[in-house]
Amino acid sequence: MFALVFLLGLTAIATVWGLPSNTARGQTSQSPIAPKVFIIDLFDEEGSSWFGIPEFNVLEQNITVPGFSPLFPQAHCTQDGSICQLVTGEAEINAASTITTLVHSSLFELTRTYFLIAGIAGISPKVGTLGSVTFARYAVQVGLQIEFDAREKPVEFPTGYVPQGAFAPDQFPPVLYGTEVFEVNDDLRQIAIEMAKTGKLADNSPSRQYRANYASNPAFASGAAPPSVIACDTATGDVFWTGNLLGEAFENTTQLFTNGSATYCTTQQEDNATLEALLRGASAGLVDFSRIIIMRTASNFDRPFPGENAATNLFLASPGFDISLLNIPAAGAPIVTGIVSQWSTRFAGGIEPSHYIGDIFGTLGGTPDFGPGSIFEGKPAVWKKRALRRRTSRIVIAD
Ligand SMILES: *[C@@H]1O[C@H](CO)[C@@H](O)[C@H](O)[C@H]1NC(C)=O
Ligand SMILES: *[C@@H]1O[C@H](CO)[C@@H](O)[C@H](O)[C@H]1NC(C)=O
Ligand SMILES: *[C@@H]1O[C@H](CO)[C@@H](O)[C@H](O)[C@H]1NC(C)=O
Ligand SMILES: *[C@@H]1O[C@H](CO)[C@@H](O)[C@H](O)[C@H]1NC(C)=O
Repeated sequence: MFALVFLLGLTAIATVWGLPSNTARGQTSQSPIAPKVFIIDLFDEEGSSWFGIPEFNVLEQNITVPGFSPLFPQAHCTQDGSICQLVTGEAEINAASTITTLVHSSLFELTRTYFLIAGIAGISPKVGTLGSVTFARYAVQVGLQIEFDAREKPVEFPTGYVPQGAFAPDQFPPVLYGTEVFEVNDDLRQIAIEMAKTGKLADNSPSRQYRANYASNPAFASGAAPPSVIACDTATGDVFWTGNLLGEAFENTTQLFTNGSATYCTTQQEDNATLEALLRGASAGLVDFSRIIIMRTASNFDRPFPGENAATNLFLASPGFDISLLNIPAAGAPIVTGIVSQWSTRFAGGIEPSHYIGDIFGTLGGTPDFGPGSIFEGKPAVWKKRALRRRTSRIVIAD
């Protein structure tokens, strides 16, 4: 409530002073908005899934952010600035570029903001089904590998993908770029899962009929069951992979890169890029890496049902798109409103993670529980205080 009064107060002052109003923020340097929750979507239908919902209206302020995608140039926020949303554009380069722009934009103050990645994804029928809502602890960049066309791969290899610097698909990569694996706050994830379970998930009969085909393989029992909210991990690649063999190959990569900790479940094209941009922002003292929630709702299966052809599954038969979009706000709005309504009692100070969070290099300090260990001797890679001091001179924190 205080936030509302306070920000309305600022708006009134701005009006008295004749300062430009919301839509002109992009061209001015007035006080930054300090959202409690920033929703990150990847393409237009995911973004518009939040428009017209009863819980809140992010179209009350449209803010042009120079450097955002030319297709999605604006962030959207509620009038009081407590909830904002953006669309990055799809795949890793767009996601990294938009989030880097956001993190360094003078229009926003994000040190206490919770980020809710809210997109659709493919799903493994071993773990979930069409319409399932998933929350990841690990994000693994499975596409960051050497690739042989399967027709030219060594015959003894089960897949054409080989980790960088390795000589076989099952060798841990000796060469790391640093974005292979991210781990986010599981304590926050468990809270998000409980909140998401209070939402009512959508389902429809084409999805019910399609998922019933998966029942013939006992390993796909979760694929044949109705959608639910589940904890399982996510795999990123610019290539939209599909089929049993690539599904299994990247399931193996997910296991390998996380030393067996992650459960391969959803498939998408952005999360590790979004996380790398947020990690660099955290390293610069601009965002808090313990305040990230990765939610992906399932639109399609990553592989066919027994007897079906991989191309049919991908091209002709994916009826889960509509319910995956509906389930973004169905599961996500309770999280957003939960964080905002319990801000001062529960969320303002952050949810302390009880385990390592960060990347495979140990950039934020601490020792990763996967991979070869910190390359910075367990200390943070970058000294944060200077960046923070520079920005706090013009922070407006709403609470
Ligand atoms: C923001 O943009 C949307 C269309 O994208 C529009 O419907 C809405 O009215 C705009 N809001 C304001 C405050 O101009
Ligand atoms: C991608 O991010 C996830 C966590 O968000 C992490 O578990 C995974 O290891 C990352 N993958 C790569 C290749 O960086
Ligand atoms: C995945 O790993 C298992 C166990 O090592 C192996 O048998 C299988 O061939 C691998 N699958 C692919 C497609 O790489
Ligand atoms: C993960 O596995 C690799 C390769 O076997 C190993 O070098 C590394 O020490 C393991 N990391 C952890 C944290 O167990």
